[in-house]
Amino acid sequence: MAVIEINHPLIQHKLTLLRNKNTDTKSFRENLNEISKLMTYEVTKNLVLDEIEVETPLMKTTGYTLGTNIAVVPILRAGLGMVDGIVSLIPTAKIGHIGVYRDEETLQPVYYYCKLPVDVQNKQVILVDPMLATGGSAIYAIDYLKNAGVKNIVFMCLVAAPEGIAKVLQTHPDVAIYTAKIDQGLDSNGYIYPGLGDCGDRIFGTK
Ligand code: URA
Repeated sequence: MAVIEINHPLIQHKLTLLRNKNTDTKSFRENLNEISKLMTYEVTKNLVLDEIEVETPLMKTTGYTLGTNIAVVPILRAGLGMVDGIVSLIPTAKIGHIGVYRDEETLQPVYYYCKLPVDVQNKQVILVDPMLATGGSAIYAIDYLKNAGVKNIVFMCLVAAPEGIAKVLQTHPDVAIYTAKIDQGLDSNGYIYPGLGDCGDRIFGTK
């Protein structure tokens, strides 16, 4: 599969607002929500539709429906900041949660929670985490979903480091990565630069 950078002017404008260290929590949340919505248009481009019959005021014709086979799975906690934007466009989506945090010293993923929708193995899953840094959490979450039987996964993030992209694609070449921007790289603490800092802290105002 591939990495797809969604270079839309509206997304790049809003991402710049998110990068700005002076953007407050309220604006950060709002802009992340809006970017997520805009990105959803591209991320869902290849979703499989069900064919249905629809009756217009003039005649019966063939229509298409997303049905109920889509699940959005945020990686806690920063992934939560992207969920509302996505489900505002796909209200029938079910929502699962995977709790994985990054150990500050080892930078390794540490699992602590998971709840997935029933029948998740038959759903098209949009896995979301705003920051694809080392790739550890994303790979852990994809492994988890595949072990649960999920066959169709796309990964959606806001900013991605080349190191994380390479690792995810190497480990899970069947998973497409959608990002608003591929950044320069990782610093020695595993932060993406230029990045936007700790996304979870900026969403929830915890720092
Ligand atoms: N997680 C974040 O929130 N920011 C980074 O730059 C890397 C990981």
